[in-house]
Order: sequence, then C-alpha cells, then structure tokens
Amino acid sequence: MGFSSSRSLKFIFLILLLTWSSTFETCNARRGKHWRRSTSFTTSLSKKNGKNHANSPHYSNSKPETPSLKAPAPPATKPENDFSPALSKKDHSYVSNATFHVLDFGAKGDGKTDDTQAFQAAWAAACKVEASTIVVPSAYVFVLGPVSFSGPYCQHDIVFQLDGTIIAPTNFKAFGSGLFQWLEFSKLVGIRIQGTGIIDGRGSTWWQDSSLDDPLDDELSLIVSLNNTVEKSLPVPIRSSLGGLKQSIKPTALRFYGSFNVTVTGITIQNSPQCHLKFDNCLGVSVYNITVSSPGDSPNTDGIHLQNSRDGLIHAANLSCGDDCISIQTGCSNVYVHNVNCGPGHGISIGSLGRDNTKACVSNVTVRNINMHNTMNGVRIKTWQGGSGSVQGVLFSNIQVSEVQIPIIIDQFYCDKSTCKNQTSGVALSGITYERIRGTYTVKPVHFACSESLPCTKVTLNAIQLKPLQKNDHIYDSFCWHTFGVLYSATVPPIECLQAGKPFNNRIQADHDLC
Ligand SMILES: *[C@@H]1O[C@H](CO)[C@@H](O)[C@H](O)[C@H]1NC(C)=O
Ligand SMILES: *[C@@H]1O[C@H](CO)[C@@H](O)[C@H](O)[C@H]1NC(C)=O
Ligand SMILES: *[C@@H]1O[C@H](CO)[C@@H](O)[C@H](O)[C@H]1NC(C)=O
Ligand SMILES: *[C@@H]1O[C@H](CO)[C@@H](O)[C@H](O)[C@H]1NC(C)=O
Ligand SMILES: *[C@@H]1O[C@H](CO)[C@@H](O)[C@H](O)[C@H]1NC(C)=O
Ligand SMILES: *[C@@H]1O[C@H](CO)[C@@H](O)[C@H](O)[C@H]1NC(C)=O
Ligand SMILES: *[C@@H]1O[C@H](CO)[C@@H](O)[C@H](O)[C@H]1NC(C)=O
Repeated sequence: MGFSSSRSLKFIFLILLLTWSSTFETCNARRGKHWRRSTSFTTSLSKKNGKNHANSPHYSNSKPETPSLKAPAPPATKPENDFSPALSKKDHSYVSNATFHVLDFGAKGDGKTDDTQAFQAAWAAACKVEASTIVVPSAYVFVLGPVSFSGPYCQHDIVFQLDGTIIAPTNFKAFGSGLFQWLEFSKLVGIRIQGTGIIDGRGSTWWQDSSLDDPLDDELSLIVSLNNTVEKSLPVPIRSSLGGLKQSIKPTALRFYGSFNVTVTGITIQNSPQCHLKFDNCLGVSVYNITVSSPGDSPNTDGIHLQNSRDGLIHAANLSCGDDCISIQTGCSNVYVHNVNCGPGHGISIGSLGRDNTKACVSNVTVRNINMHNTMNGVRIKTWQGGSGSVQGVLFSNIQVSEVQIPIIIDQFYCDKSTCKNQTSGVALSGITYERIRGTYTVKPVHFACSESLPCTKVTLNAIQLKPLQKNDHIYDSFCWHTFGVLYSATVPPIECLQAGKPFNNRIQADHDLC
C-alpha cells in the first residue's frame, strides 16, 4: 500500500515535470517556415483554392458541420514563479497579469530590423501568464516575418495590445516555399487583439503575380458579358528582384485558427497579399471597430473570411478591398454582421460552397444595416454545382447600396472556368430573406439562378427598392430561375419571376437532414 502510493506520487511528480517542460517548450511562437510541415497547420485553407487543398481533413465531405472544437487544457502547473531564467535576468517587475513590452525583448521598431524573434520571446513570456498583455507601442514600425503565436499550452485571455505598426517583408523569400498566412494565432482561448495599430501586408508585389490567384470573381461573365467589369489580368511573371522564388500560395495577413473567444478590435489591416483577416475553426469570434483597406483592383484580397466557425459577430467595420468584404464559408453558423461599410469590393458573400462535390453547411446568418458603395455585388450566395449540404436561415436586412452592379444574387451555377458540367446535386438553399434593400444598381437589380434539381425555397422579399443608376443598354431586368418564395410587398422594380408555393421534388428536406 505504502509502496504503491509512493510510486504513484513519484509518477504524478514525473507527469507534472513533463507537463511543465513541454509547456516551457511549446509556448514559444514558432517561426513560420516550420509550420507548414506540421499537420496541425496544413489544415489551413485558402479560400476558394481547390487546387491542392479542397477541404480540411477535419471537415471533409462526410462531416463538415460541427467543428470539433475542444478547449485546449491550460497547463497543469501554475506559472506564478515560473518565468524563464532569461526573463528573470532582465529584471522585469512582474505584477500579476503582467505586461510584456516587445521593446524589452529586443524589438527595434525601426521599420528595417526583423523583429520576429523579439515578438516570439515576448509571446513566450506572455503565454505563461493568464490575462497578460503584450504591448506593441505606437510610433514604432516593426518588421515581422511569418510567425505563429501558437498556444495549445498558453494561459487564457492574452491581450495583444497593438498600437504600433507591423509590416510584412516584401521579399518573397521570407515566406519560404509558401505559407497560408503571415501572422497566425492558433489554439488559444480568449485571445484579443486591440489598439489603434496597423497591420500592413505590403502586398502589392504579390498582387502582380496572377498565376497564384484564386479564380477571379467572374460572376458577371456568366450573367451578361459586360465590358469592363471582369478584369482578366494577364499573368505577369514575378520579377527576379523579388528573389526569383516561385511562390505556391499568397498568404493571408492575419489568421486565427482553432481558437475560442477571439476578439479583434480597433486595428487597421491593410494591403494584404490575399485575405486580410481569416477565422478558421473558431468558436466565438468578435470583430468590431476595425478597418480593412486595400485597393479595389487588388486580386483576391477578401476583407474578413469566416470558415468552420460558429458564433461570429462582426460590426462597426469599414471594409474596402479587392474581393468580398466579408465571406462566410462552409461550417459557419450563428453569424451576425451589422453596421458595416463595404466598398470597393465584391460585396458580402456566403460561399462559394460545394466546390469539387464537397458538402457545405451554413445556417443562421444575419447581415443587417450595411452600406455598400461601388461594389461588384451586394449580398450574394454562391454555390457550385455538384456539392451537397445546405444554406438555411439567412436574413439580409436594411442594406443600402449605391452604384452596385447586382445588389441581390443567388448563383447556384458558380463556376470559375469557362464551362462547368451541369450536375443534379447541389447545396440546397432555403429560408433566405431579403428586406429593406435599397439604392442604385448599374447592371441588374436581382439575379436568382437556382438549381433545377434543387430549387431555392422560402426566398422572401420585402421592401426592395432598387433603381438603375442611369438608363442605358446594359441595364437588365430581374431574373429568377427555379426560385420559390414570397413577395411581401411590391418591389421597385417589380420582381415577377419568383414562383409561389413549393417545388415538386422533395430532395431538399433530405439534404437538410444531412447538415
Ligand atoms: C488576472 O487575471 C485573472 C483572470 O482574468 C483575474 O481573475 C484576476 O483578477 C487578474 N488579476 C489582476 C491583478 O488583474
Ligand atoms: C468597352 O468599353 C470601351 C470603353 O471603356 C469601349 O471603347 C468599347 O467599345 C467597349 N466594348 C464593348 C464590346 O462594348
Ligand atoms: C467564451 O466566452 C463565453 C462568454 O463570455 C464563456 O461563457 C465561455 O466559457 C468562453 N469559452 C471558453 C472556452 O473560455
Ligand atoms: C475604435 O478604434 C479606435 C482606434 O482605431 C479608437 O480610437 C476608438 O476609441 C474606438 N472606438 C470605439 C467606439 O471603441
Ligand atoms: C468608418 O467610417 C465611418 C464614416 O466614414 C466613420 O464614422 C467610422 O468612424 C469609421 N469606423 C472605423 C472603425 O474606422
Ligand atoms: C442565431 O444566431 C444568433 C447570433 O447571431 C444567436 O443569437 C441565435 O441564438 C441563433 N439562433 C439559433 C436558433 O441558433
Ligand atoms: C446547363 O443548364 C443550363 C440551364 O438549364 C443551360 O442553360 C446550360 O446550357 C447547361 N450547360 C451545359 C454545359 O449543358
């Protein structure tokens, strides 16, 4: 008895020791070049990029809908007196819930020196203290290479106080053979980025290389052949001055992966090589009072991208970019977007969904009080033929559009190639409500193109008032194809193509059951 209990005591001690040492090591932010090989990071996905990574391993065809989010357990050891020797030497005065200044860790902030290691050191320290704060002071410019602030063993509720500016290297070499993101926060609980600072991806050199682009948004080429609206940029080879390295992918500026209760507020994210702010496999996302800014002609520069994430709230944001201001992808539910200005950009989109015959599930999305100016689309749902799953329970309410090409779009024939095969399966759409959508359009007020085998159902329109910006030959009437629903009030212009009642076949219910 006594013998075995002393053995088990020893055993517990050993476990504690092991936990402590693994905590110690894994807290460190890792340099980007290593992550790509580790499986936990290869699950990251680029939007719409089906070339190599059609779906994350966790959410392959069979089970896309319930992100398997488990809160990483906090370390078994309490970190109070647990600061690394290196830090103690520096004689930081640790108060509880300590503050860690990146300058104290050797960051220069001169806009030239690579400060990645200093940030990694600051992170390693902050990681050990619950509700600690990393301070990135204003009036400094920090050059950071690709870096992951990774935290499966970090304490909860870390604050990244960003008041300075963080800029990306412009040399492609910094990104090795290709990375999905520049700055990553992963596997954290209660991470918060706040402040008046700027994250600048300095992406203009990347934008020139169109060979890496996701297919450009050529929605309109399917609808009408429009002059000038779909820019087919010609491939421009990467200039040799950029290192001559062939990149395999353009990085997202700031990405959160596999985290709980993520908040991003106050900051500006600009000129990303690709998407600006991405959430993947997150539960509880709050984004407000932020600015995203990149030129309207910068390819694939989505503003905010949500994927496999639940309980998302985005509000008080000014988003101008070269692709979707907000893009809601598969695996998202309970998303609320309100008081957002969008433009230039491609509008607010759900999708594209169901590419390469994948299953997609999106439900309970509300988009309200939006201003869109000079955008390609307004509110849009786009799905590929051949997919499965469903989009259910979507409300677009009080959307003010001005100079928007097509304010309201459902496109179940989304296709980036010149032709896509007609297929009978698709992502089912049901319960899509449009109310108080007003303003001016330049091409067509409403475009509903639903699948013949899987028509859209319960599409409702209420208080729609859309006027052509000017009369000309390129103005088209509203269009509906296999779209069932109700007009609650007269619309301007009249939309007469909506079909009353329900479609004959009953496949929709069956597909819903799968989500
Ligand atoms: C430290 O953080 C914890 C968790 O947020 C909180 O309960 C505690 O009050 C904080 N302590 C101080 C001194 O701020
Ligand atoms: C396209 O627009 C340009 C001017 O922007 C005009 O010269 C040209 O004729 C137009 N082409 C077509 C096919 O409408
Ligand atoms: C996230 O925040 C909510 C509300 O503040 C809280 O109830 C929940 O426990 C948090 N989740 C985690 C994993 O800490
Ligand atoms: C919004 O963020 C800015 C910094 O970018 C800050 O100065 C301002 O106080 C914030 N406003 C609100 C309402 O939080
Ligand atoms: C967004 O733009 C509006 C109008 O220009 C401005 O009042 C608001 O403060 C801006 N919000 C942010 C987060 O910058
Ligand atoms: C839908 O999402 C909202 C948040 O946007 C949430 O408050 C609400 O409870 C959700 N409804 C359902 C039925 O899950
Ligand atoms: C696919 O179906 C649509 C609608 O019926 C039709 O207009 C189009 O020509 C078809 N495309 C092909 C490639 O069969």
